[in-house]
Amino acid sequence: MAHGLFRACYPHPEQQDKCVKIALKDHPLPKRAKLVDLKEPTDPNLRELFAYKKLKARGVPVESRFPAVHDLVDTDLGQGLVVDRIDAALPQGALTLRDYIEKGVRGELTPDMLVAELRNFADFCVRHSVFASCDEWHNLYFVRKDAGYHCMAFDLKLRLNREFIPFSSVLPFAMRHKIRRRFDRMIAEVEGLLSAPQTA
Ligand SMILES: Nc1ncnc2c1ncn2[C@@H]1O[C@H](COP(=O)(O)OP(=O)(O)O)[C@@H](O)[C@H]1O
Ligand SMILES: [Mg+2]
Repeated sequence: MAHGLFRACYPHPEQQDKCVKIALKDHPLPKRAKLVDLKEPTDPNLRELFAYKKLKARGVPVESRFPAVHDLVDTDLGQGLVVDRIDAALPQGALTLRDYIEKGVRGELTPDMLVAELRNFADFCVRHSVFASCDEWHNLYFVRKDAGYHCMAFDLKLRLNREFIPFSSVLPFAMRHKIRRRFDRMIAEVEGLLSAPQTA
């Protein structure tokens, strides 16, 4: 279906409403994992499963912003992670931010509405301390909700703390501040991309 830097995503062979994410053989390691021995897993599927379970255990309504994560399965290509499948194609399905930016696919979502929804998504992640790959714009998409659109993310891979002394892992306000900063940067980047003249 698609792939990122770490994993490829395939339709589930038996269940239409699910897909399977499988790590690419030569995916990069998180930077900090090169320096120290980590307690956290470095495998991208384990990073996502770990983040999902952690948030669920804290009672965070994860599925309001991410597809549900199911089990690990063995496949011909190695271990896979089963997740709910998002149909990322208008008109009934979702609209990816990548298509919005790179192909100019707009649906009825104006750039102002889009940025407002990105801010709502950022607020959710800050409030619940979600420090994961969902702060990168190519991992985001929009689903129809009531008369508008609702921002969600494909990718919940846990970020590993790269600070030498990881203060923000033990200080919740420092973590929230850091997440807010990352989203502010990403949203500014998206605003820049949306105001740039279309080349395609
Ligand atoms: N649940 C899903 N439903 C449909 N497509 C998905 C789903 N999860 C991921 N994808 C597609 O696969 C791509 C890579 O998945 P992602 O989780 O971002 O992997 P990576 O760890 O490589 O960044 C996404 O950008 C998206 O296009
Ligand atoms: Mg990704």
